[in-house]
Amino acid sequence: MSPAPLADRLARVRAATERLCAPLAVEDQVAQSMPDASPAKWHLGHTTWFFETFLLAPHLAGFRPHREAWGPLFNSYYVTAGPRHPRPERGLLTRPTVEEVRAWRAAVDDRVQALLRSPAGDAPGVAAVAELGLQHEQQHQELLLADVQHLLSRNPLEPAYAPRLPPPPAPAAPLAWAERPGGLVRVGHEGPGFAFDNEGPAHDVALAPFRLASRPVTAGEFAAFVEDGGYDRPELWLSDGFAAAAQGGWRAPLYWERRDGRWTRFSLHGRIPVDPGAPVVHVSFYEADAYARWAGARLPTEAEWETAARDAPVEGQFVEGGPLVPLAAGPSLFGGAWSWTASPHVGYPGFRPAPGALGEYNGKFMVNQLVLRGGSCLSPRDHLRATYRNFFPPHARWQASGIRLAR
Ligand SMILES: [Fe+2]
Repeated sequence: MSPAPLADRLARVRAATERLCAPLAVEDQVAQSMPDASPAKWHLGHTTWFFETFLLAPHLAGFRPHREAWGPLFNSYYVTAGPRHPRPERGLLTRPTVEEVRAWRAAVDDRVQALLRSPAGDAPGVAAVAELGLQHEQQHQELLLADVQHLLSRNPLEPAYAPRLPPPPAPAAPLAWAERPGGLVRVGHEGPGFAFDNEGPAHDVALAPFRLASRPVTAGEFAAFVEDGGYDRPELWLSDGFAAAAQGGWRAPLYWERRDGRWTRFSLHGRIPVDPGAPVVHVSFYEADAYARWAGARLPTEAEWETAARDAPVEGQFVEGGPLVPLAAGPSLFGGAWSWTASPHVGYPGFRPAPGALGEYNGKFMVNQLVLRGGSCLSPRDHLRATYRNFFPPHARWQASGIRLAR
């Protein structure tokens, strides 16, 4: 990718983040609803800090940070890059203000654009780090929406981020099982095009023949599990999952509530009826695993998912098309709801983190997390590909995470 198209794409992606904040009041952008979630203002600042720290500082002659003291506030987890403000206290950072953070964004955008369009933009590493910053920004766009949803869910007024309601429910496609032959399959990223470091090295995996569900598990199917006492049946659950459900008081997916005898769910569109034909979302790995056992199936491994997705087009429901809830479950492996897999997030054979602070991007999170595949209705479409490995701890429920079954 030559610098000018990269600079143009980067400008578009940065502007898309700003647009996501447009429906938010200043007050909405500052509060933090739980240690796992960050305020919108923090996402705006952190993604800017990323460009300042990893692109401008090493590559811009005479670089000085916009405000030196802000660095530790917006450094997420890069130990090599210096001190970090405690994550659970990001919501206490009323200063810098939203306006100051937005001015910082604009200043950094100007400097990044100038760098990429100058001869220095051709220096080794510049394009690669700019591309990483762009992809990182897109990851934070989805996190920002999930965090806003969680924040708004904690307000008894249940405010809608996007007041326009999604279209009326439509039935899901019938469930079928696609036969996959297995054999020695190639997984992981190789060749041109961007990929995160955890997507490689490409390698061969031996798979037994398997069957993959033709669509995700629907909310209606998951409701049947709930009504069958699924949450009270320890034989369906991993021990850690049963304990997490008991401790968290889980009786249904996150945001679900029974009102007037019907299931409702809080969403970015406010509280809406649960659409029985739409993919279930806001389930943890533990709930996905228990559901699969109840349904006489299992979760696919990430290699099984990837071999099915490898030749499939990246088509489906993404953030650009809206709405911000998944619609009727269809055949695409991409978009709608992330699919939990049975695979732990570990390094592929031969994986080595990059030297320096950017080696902390994924490599140090290769324990105690499960891989999710395919993207969701909150993901930017051009952020996804068949080799993409998202990951979260098994108890995480606030992402648009759902279930696709295998046998
Ligand atoms: Fe980040």
